[in-house]
Formats: sequence, structure tokens, C-alpha cells
Amino acid sequence: MTPLLAVNNLKVSYPTRTGVVEAVRGVSFSLQKERLAIVGESGSGKSQTGRAIMGLTPKHGVVTADTLDFNGIDLLKASDKERRQLRGKRIAMVLQDPKYSLDPVMTIGRQICETLRTHESISRSEARDRALAMLEAVQIRDPKRVFDLHPHEVSGGMGQRAMIAMMLIAGPELLIADEPTSALDVTVQLDVLRIMDRLVSERGMGLIFVSHDLRLVSSFCDRVLVMYAGKVVEELKASELKNAQHPYTRGLLNCMPQIGESRHPLPVLDRKPEWAA
Ligand SMILES: Nc1ncnc2c1ncn2[C@@H]1O[C@H](COP(=O)(O)OP(=O)(O)OP(=O)(O)O)[C@@H](O)[C@H]1O
Ligand SMILES: [Mg+2]
Repeated sequence: MTPLLAVNNLKVSYPTRTGVVEAVRGVSFSLQKERLAIVGESGSGKSQTGRAIMGLTPKHGVVTADTLDFNGIDLLKASDKERRQLRGKRIAMVLQDPKYSLDPVMTIGRQICETLRTHESISRSEARDRALAMLEAVQIRDPKRVFDLHPHEVSGGMGQRAMIAMMLIAGPELLIADEPTSALDVTVQLDVLRIMDRLVSERGMGLIFVSHDLRLVSSFCDRVLVMYAGKVVEELKASELKNAQHPYTRGLLNCMPQIGESRHPLPVLDRKPEWAA
């Protein structure tokens, strides 16, 4: 079976005045209609991997890969126009910071409607109805009011949910969610996870879920990729995360606090240069 997404030896680098920054250094994985988590410390290349798949690497970045196929489409050979058509409609990404991804001068409702209307020829009123339904689906309680608000008029958590609504409205086959719930409180976080979960199980969407939260990932996802310094250092079933072998992953697990346990001093991750080799 052809996977939904096949990534082989993906590299992303940035030439800078002081040398080349290698943000992603040969990442390989494949994705079916499942929930795949990417975890790893800040700067390990999680967002850069997601952006490269989306075709959102900044102009001066260099993306190479032996394979970067979405549903049999070679993404590296796709034209800018083909890439734009895929984005939003078939592949969507919830960016880490919704404040930078929503247009500040357009109301939330209009942004969602426009996303829908660029991909489907439907009437204004049908777009509005679907946008309102989607806002409700992401647990925005008064969708009619929020529809007419600008991004700066809503809280961070609501902005993030609006962003998620915008990404899900066209019904993508692949969703890359980059820390989609980090600005949300725990109950809303669960609501959002449930929505994404339903899309995976009912509509057969593939999900790449980028997170720092190992506990969340082990209960919510099917598989986990652990990244360190631009590489995948370990790949395992989410349910087996506690048996991780790589010293970095073990270190992360050791740093997780347990309720009811007091630890002094707090554990510190002791990084070894050879992990990045
Ligand atoms: N435009 C750029 N120019 C140069 N280097 C960049 C650029 N964008 C990202 N990088 C580098 O790429 C590396 C990976 O960044 P990335 O954003 O993928 O990390 P991350 O794993 O998503 O981290 P976080 O958990 O903090 O979001 C970092 O070392 C970063 O400095
Ligand atoms: Mg990131």
C-alpha cells in the first residue's frame, strides 16, 4: 500500500554568514492514516520538518530529499501552483503560533470562509454556515459573535481554535499540527484532541502531531518519532514510549514530574555530544 506520506532522507539547511545551519539532517519516515507524534527538544527540527512537507520553508532555506511523496505526488517536483493547491485543501498545517498565522485585519469568520471558497465553489451563505459549524465543532461557544471578531480581539486559546477550524474546514487528508494545544488549558486541549482524533478515525486523515508533551503523546498517538539535533534518534509505538532505549528519550522520560512525588534536586538532562553525531 502506498503510504499517505513518504519521507526519505529529508534535509533542510540555511546558509548564513557564519556557515550553514543544518536544521533537519536526514529525516525518514512514512505515514499511513494514523496519528504520528514528533517529539524532541526546542530546536531539534520538528517545525522545520513540518514546514518542508507543507512547502513553507523560507526562500533562503534549501530542502532536499531522496523521497518526499504525498499520495504518490512528488512534492519536490511540484510547481508552486500545485503546491498552493495542495496546501489548505489536501495538506494543512496548524502553525505553532496562531498570532502569526491569522490575518490581523480580517475577521475570523471571513478568513475561514475564504479558505473554504478558494477550494470549493460554494455560495457565500453556505460558506458562512459551514464556518459557523466548524467554529462550534472546535468548542467555540458563541460562534456567531466570534465569526465577526478580529484575531486580536480573542484570547490566545480561542485564536488557536479558530486556526484549527480554518485548517480543518476543507477536510485535509494530512494535517500537520505543530504544538496545536500548547496555548490551551487542559479541558479545551482535550476537546481539540478529540476533534482531531475523530478526523483520523472517521475520515481517515493522517496526522503529524508535534509536541513537547510526552505524556500526552503516549496516550493520544499511535507512533512516536523522537528528534534530536535535526535527526530521528528513535521511532517507537506510543504505547511503548516508557520502554524507550535511546539515552535522550530516557532522559526526557526521567525529567517528567510525577504527582505526589517530590524530587530535590530536579533532574537535569545530561546531553552527550555523540547523540548529535
Ligand atoms: N530561517 C532560519 N534560518 C536559520 N536557521 C533556522 C531558520 N529557521 C529555523 N532555523 C534553525 O532550525 C533549527 C530547528 O528549528 P525548528 O523550528 O524546527 O525547531 P523545533 O524543534 O520546532 O523547536 P521548538 O520546539 O522550539 O518549536 C533551529 O536550530 C533553528 O535555529
Ligand atoms: Mg517548533
